[in-house]
Amino acid sequence: MVDPLHVAVLMGGWSSERRVSLVSGAACAQALRAGGFRVTEIDMDRPDLAALLAALTPAPDVVFNALHGRGGEDGVIQGALELMGVPYTHSGVVASAIAMDKPLTKAVMSSVGMRVPDGKVVPAAEAAVRHPMEPPYVVKPADEGSSVGVHLVLEGSNAVGVPELAGKDGRVLVERYIPGKELTVGVMGDRALAVTEVRYDHGFFDYDAKYVAGHATHVLPADVPAEILERVMDWALLAHTTLGCAGISRSDFRWDDRDGVDGVHFLEVNTQPGFTPISLVPEQAAHLGIGFGELCRWLVEEAQCRH
Ligand SMILES: Nc1ncnc2c1ncn2[C@@H]1O[C@H](COP(=O)(O)OP(=O)(O)O)[C@@H](O)[C@H]1O
Ligand SMILES: [Mg+2]
Repeated sequence: MVDPLHVAVLMGGWSSERRVSLVSGAACAQALRAGGFRVTEIDMDRPDLAALLAALTPAPDVVFNALHGRGGEDGVIQGALELMGVPYTHSGVVASAIAMDKPLTKAVMSSVGMRVPDGKVVPAAEAAVRHPMEPPYVVKPADEGSSVGVHLVLEGSNAVGVPELAGKDGRVLVERYIPGKELTVGVMGDRALAVTEVRYDHGFFDYDAKYVAGHATHVLPADVPAEILERVMDWALLAHTTLGCAGISRSDFRWDDRDGVDGVHFLEVNTQPGFTPISLVPEQAAHLGIGFGELCRWLVEEAQCRH
């Protein structure tokens, strides 16, 4: 009998998304074990190359990357795995690094013809004293994953300082607020899976206009016209291929339904989208008859090392 493939699941990490990564990682490990793989779970709780090397010695056949956010989703871990020569799931160094930078991603997506919300990067201190653009607009981190939040500045409100949103360079991304619906599309290899509308229980911004990624209802498939479904699925696939993403990715859109197909705006692409069995991409895959275990197995089979 041949030995089962040894898969190391990297999870946890040191970003603000540590907790959700632990949930994703545990679910993947369980599914891979059930699928007959030999699985080791590795909690990367700090940026420590020596600890990573020790945990991956002897080298597994494949690393399943279940990390989210800084360190795990931005090309850093991907670079370390390239140097070690271990095949890993999801996107490589370049796609991961670009996708983590929202302003850069928007520039790339506009260059291939997508509509993105008007916006600019400004010092957080400046956004605190005067409106960088006409309200309503949103203020968000230029270079972080989710959970830090997005701040909405409504018409008639004062400019707001949101220092916790500023990146290391003290800057924030300011974007025109796009009303309407929230649509998200998972991509698996060369296939856009489906379109989910995400509806937030309390409106998606709470009383003090701070976005909370809390309770959301998923409407799958989204109840929007066929031309809108087609547009976001085309653009999600285009985002994936333009950045050279690998495995799965998920692109987020806003659709201003007053403007028909011209109301579709690309927001961002996630190269390590949420991956618990009830997360958006696994849910879209299940909708097409691809179970969670099958999705995990496919990611392992697609794992690569580019150098
Ligand atoms: N320009 C915008 N107009 C309207 N809503 C926005 C805008 N930018 C972000 N949002 C809201 O904030 C959420 C998070 O923003 P996003 O750009 O996807 O970053 P992340 O998911 O990394 O926090 C979006 O899903 C959307 O609900
Ligand atoms: Mg998002």
